[in-house]
Amino acid sequence: RYDAAPFVPEGAGLDVLRRAAADCRGCPLHRAATQTVFGAGNTDARVMLVGEQPGDQEDRQGRPFVGPAGKLLDRALAQAGIDPSEAYVTNAVKHFKFTRAEPGKRRIHKAPSLREMTACGPWLAAELALVEPELIVVLGATAGKALLGSSFRVSQVRGTVLEEEIHGRPERLVPTVHPSAVLRADDREQAYQGLVADLEVAARALG
Ligand code: URA
Ligand code: SF4
Repeated sequence: RYDAAPFVPEGAGLDVLRRAAADCRGCPLHRAATQTVFGAGNTDARVMLVGEQPGDQEDRQGRPFVGPAGKLLDRALAQAGIDPSEAYVTNAVKHFKFTRAEPGKRRIHKAPSLREMTACGPWLAAELALVEPELIVVLGATAGKALLGSSFRVSQVRGTVLEEEIHGRPERLVPTVHPSAVLRADDREQAYQGLVADLEVAARALG
């Protein structure tokens, strides 16, 4: 069975948690990836942003949302009135999953399976318990399924404030599209404005 739980230390602070996550072997994704990409930010952050999994750049640098999607996200957050440096940023899955068209070629992002998302859940639960954010911004379908279950549909709930029990705690969440989906959209400007509008809902919910 895939499960990160045996690797998650009890009663640990964020630094101890991060160091333990570096040695996680809770699912096979750690084998091909460079390193664990744990969340970044402080325990006093008011908002937690949850993405899918690290991308190529994040896998190399060991930090979430430092590549193209992260740059776009930071810009959208600032435009919506949320200071990116005051947010805790993490992913539903902590290792980069990829394929290559041919050996030695560029690494192509592959969506994590439900099993991998579930396996990695204990890390996200531990982050939530420590940071206790006032609001969770759910970035795209994978984060939504990881937090709210497999029936989650981003198009149905984006830009609304949800109140749900997550890992045994009452949470407020605002779902939106993943910034990578904005980069892939036919009409990027329209997709970007949609992301900003959803983040403005989050900014208002934070007050
Ligand atoms: N996409 C994500 O979901 N997370 C990252 O950290 C980078 C890209
Ligand atoms: Fe552990 Fe998550 Fe990495 Fe799988 S993806 S090895 S569960 S940290």
